Amino acid sequence: MGLIFLIGFMGSGKTTLGRKLAARMDYEFIDLDHKLEQQVELSIAEYFTLFGEDPFRKLESEVLKKTVYPENAIISTGGGLPYFFDNMEWMNANGRTVYIKLSPKTLADRLENGKEERPLLQEKHGEALIAFIEQKLGERESFYSQANIIVDGLSLTPEKLEQILETKAT
Ligand code: S3P
Repeated sequence: MGLIFLIGFMGSGKTTLGRKLAARMDYEFIDLDHKLEQQVELSIAEYFTLFGEDPFRKLESEVLKKTVYPENAIISTGGGLPYFFDNMEWMNANGRTVYIKLSPKTLADRLENGKEERPLLQEKHGEALIAFIEQKLGERESFYSQANIIVDGLSLTPEKLEQILETKAT
């Protein structure tokens, strides 16, 4: 079935769901954020601090396009990746894309704890966090929506996701 790219906002469950889905389907699991961190030998937070966002976006696009993928893989992507350059187009041309969609409120609840690793979210809490998510989602939604498959991320399980992928197999 090839490459399946999971896209969506931070906190939508791409990595957790992706890892479990890959195990169920006997696919390889690739986390692009993690690949990037291995390549530069820095955490994303460290990379942001040292070099800022622009170099990070260039690098993440390069990692997306230069990774040598196995025949079948589930790939989790950074929340911002679809919004930059022609990354969304590239993913649609090279595999299938699945947008895991959640509301700003749900995302904020999930992100309220565990934001330390995410440089864009530091220092944001409560209403400020929701406002930030609403703004970013507003910018990104038209890119996320170019996904082949859009799924409701609320109470989504690897089992459900596998079923959806089977039904929509082309
Ligand atoms: C980002 C999302 C993060 C990571 C970076 C920027 C974003 O990935 O790539 O912190 O711009 O939304 P996750 O969505 O895997 O947390």
